[in-house]
Amino acid sequence: MRTEQPQVIYLKDYQAPEYLIDETHLTFELFEDHTLVHAQLVMRRNPARGAGLPPLVLDGQQLELLRASLDDTELQASDYQLEADSLTVQPKAERFTLDTSVKIHPESNTALEGLYKSGKMFCTQCEAEGFRKITYYLDRPDVMSTFTTTVIAEQHRYPVLLSNGNPIGSGPAEDGRHWATWEDPFMKPAYLFALVAGDLWCVEDNFVRQSGRDVTLRIYVEPENIDKCDHAMVSLKKSMRWDEEVYGREYDLDIFMIVAVNDFNMGAMENKGLNIFNSSCVLARAETATDAAHQRVEGVVAHEYFHNWSGNRVTCRDWFQLSLKEGFTVFRDAEFSADMNSRTVKRIEDVAYLRTHQFAEDAGPMAHPVRPDSFIEISNFYTLTVYEKGAEVVRMVRTLLGAEGFRKGSDLYFERHDGQAVTTDDFIKAMEDANGVDLTQFKRWYNQAGTPRLEVSEGYDAGAQTYSLTFRQSCPQTPDKAEKLPFVIPVELGLLDAEGNDLPLRLAGEAAAGGTSRVLSVTEAEQTFTFEGLTAKPLPSLLRGFSAPVKLSFPYDRDQLMFLMQHDSDGFNRWEAGQQLSVQVLQELIGQHQRGEALKLDPRLITALGTVLGNESLDAAMVAEMLSLPGEAYLTEISQVADVDAIHAAREFARQQIAEQLFDGLWARYQAHREVSRSTAYVAAAEHFARRSLQNIALSYLMLSGKPQVLEATLEQFDQCDNMTERLTALAVLVNSPFEAERAKALETFAEHFKDNPLVMDQWFSVQAASSLPGGLARVKALMQHPAFTLKNPNKVRALVGAFAGQNLVNFHAADGSGYRFLADLVIELNALNPQIASRQLAPLTRWRKYDDARQALMKGELERILASGALSSDVYEVVSKSLA
Ligand code: TRP
Ligand code: ZN
Repeated sequence: MRTEQPQVIYLKDYQAPEYLIDETHLTFELFEDHTLVHAQLVMRRNPARGAGLPPLVLDGQQLELLRASLDDTELQASDYQLEADSLTVQPKAERFTLDTSVKIHPESNTALEGLYKSGKMFCTQCEAEGFRKITYYLDRPDVMSTFTTTVIAEQHRYPVLLSNGNPIGSGPAEDGRHWATWEDPFMKPAYLFALVAGDLWCVEDNFVRQSGRDVTLRIYVEPENIDKCDHAMVSLKKSMRWDEEVYGREYDLDIFMIVAVNDFNMGAMENKGLNIFNSSCVLARAETATDAAHQRVEGVVAHEYFHNWSGNRVTCRDWFQLSLKEGFTVFRDAEFSADMNSRTVKRIEDVAYLRTHQFAEDAGPMAHPVRPDSFIEISNFYTLTVYEKGAEVVRMVRTLLGAEGFRKGSDLYFERHDGQAVTTDDFIKAMEDANGVDLTQFKRWYNQAGTPRLEVSEGYDAGAQTYSLTFRQSCPQTPDKAEKLPFVIPVELGLLDAEGNDLPLRLAGEAAAGGTSRVLSVTEAEQTFTFEGLTAKPLPSLLRGFSAPVKLSFPYDRDQLMFLMQHDSDGFNRWEAGQQLSVQVLQELIGQHQRGEALKLDPRLITALGTVLGNESLDAAMVAEMLSLPGEAYLTEISQVADVDAIHAAREFARQQIAEQLFDGLWARYQAHREVSRSTAYVAAAEHFARRSLQNIALSYLMLSGKPQVLEATLEQFDQCDNMTERLTALAVLVNSPFEAERAKALETFAEHFKDNPLVMDQWFSVQAASSLPGGLARVKALMQHPAFTLKNPNKVRALVGAFAGQNLVNFHAADGSGYRFLADLVIELNALNPQIASRQLAPLTRWRKYDDARQALMKGELERILASGALSSDVYEVVSKSLA
């Protein structure tokens, strides 16, 4: 908890460390009511900081110092200075060894940072600054050391003892205890340290590297989960092969381990050779995990594995550089998933997520550049901007350089910086040097926050047969900066003729056309490109594949959007045209609702969706994506002032109309797909995900008709299916239906069947918390009393509270402020238990500027109440104070 005024840390104040640590030797003695940590640090003065021996200031928090010695001289209390978060000693020579012993309390650590207990097992989470809660250390990523770790614990309770690197010894100890020693020869910062002790089982496999060497692969889980590891293991082997083939990167230790834990603040952590995962990102099998969960496991396993190069072998100099590893690694895992499944569908999902959530962050009080300039609490900067927008920035580099140029750049980056802690500038420099290009202006994507707007207008000259596109870019003010300089915006585009074919693209001054889809670089505030040789006015297809994270506008009419939906050669833009059409139609309905008029849906939306639905040659997953209307959160994001009730009413009205008018087509597709699902055993692969996604979206529309045959079909699917995807959809459809008796029975049967599986119970909580039926808050409050719920487990908090505040917008934004009060009470309670989770759950309240005056006042009132509630963690303090500024 914060005791003094919180300190703001600035990038401009960065200085290299005064001392370096060459070797770290740790011994952990684990007991039920405390743990002892003995550390021996082989250190030296950093030659880069010149002569002299300034005081050595080590980071440490919540540690009880038992003893310390410097080169075998026991230190007396007068020899050091002990503060709440540091230990200062005076070195006597350029090279020295520091020994400390501390006592810590993992058994009562509810923050899940440092060493803690998840159920019966010990585990660690050190990123970003958790290692300082384990021992006194230079806890910063530019201090890299080898590690030797010995763990000593009771043999019976903790038969498995793990740490980073390779195992080098083990044996029995006194009093029924035993020990194991691990050695990690690769230099690494402390945030990559990991330790696990528990009664774990593992599945083992092996992987033969390109070079022919063998690696042992192990996934450790609690015994009851041993049957849910296969999908993660397959995903791991695919990831290892892909990184060899696409980036030329091989794994480097003899063993690679994954451990699944139930209590974890984030998705997973890339500790060297010993990745620790939230169990929700490892465990998957047909009966208990949805298709989405299977894809998430594949993506997260890949993400953490890819960090071995983009993060571990080449790490960050300081935490302002976080996107160096996270943006790059998200880009790498997205490309991997695109290669393993449907590329277009993956892109659609990622863009929809970015535009809904990252754009909202970029327009809110916590907006920051991909490389922030300052922070109070680094844990608050594991954001959509650093991760997802950061990945878009890397994607733009590849779009500008081409795949081959990008690979030359990544090869140079890994080769030049192996074993170093570097910056995003170093990443860009490698790309520049490998390609002989200048990316100076491009780097503005790293240091200017906010989502750029790109307004496009057209002009056609029939006499000259020229067509011109004029781009005007601007970027709204954000807390970091008022005035923004122009970005480099890669705009991939095509021009369609009246039949919908791509035209050859020849820019003024070019001798010959350069393809039918091209990337233009928009670099000025206003810039015009003229195409020649066009005998009729074409229709532009702009920002294909979402080639830049901007808000593009072009004055398409609805007929043009319908044309693009059918004819654009770019699959992403076919979907995008449908989204834009839906947005126009929904905004019209929102206006009607606000004026108190009867709602009237533009029939062209039905026609367009009917055409998509009837097209049997389209990928079923694409049909499902195109049938999905933009979500309420996205409609909120693109509104000046979001009218929660009007958005909900408009969208529900459109869904109802679609269900009624396309009933026959939906019913036919549903039955055909359900029939295949019924007669095929579950397979976790793209074509099967596609079939089930269309089947399930069709079912959720069909239920809006209220027809008895749909209820019957839903109950059949719920009872008879062999997988969680179909079962959970059926449950969600019932939960949102008016059939009260069937809903209650399904919820009860489901809970009875899955009560011992916490990950499935999370789904059960979420489905109910997200239901927009009236009385949402009361339902959530009742569910918090359920025996399977606890505030101490982050997955439970996300499943219930996160789903309510993030997805159930009509209930959360109830006009009486009850949703806001509930969330504020919860944040105050969580602040004391787990500051990282408290601060993350707070996000919906920080968006108060989007709402009407009455709601704004209520939301701000709750933020002020949190601020006044007493000892706030730096995490919660930073978010609340910045939101009110
Ligand atoms: N580096 C992790 C990743 O792969 C992020 C992470 C895991 C994390 N656990 C954390 C960050 C706890 C902060 C706190 O993305
Ligand atoms: Zn990561």
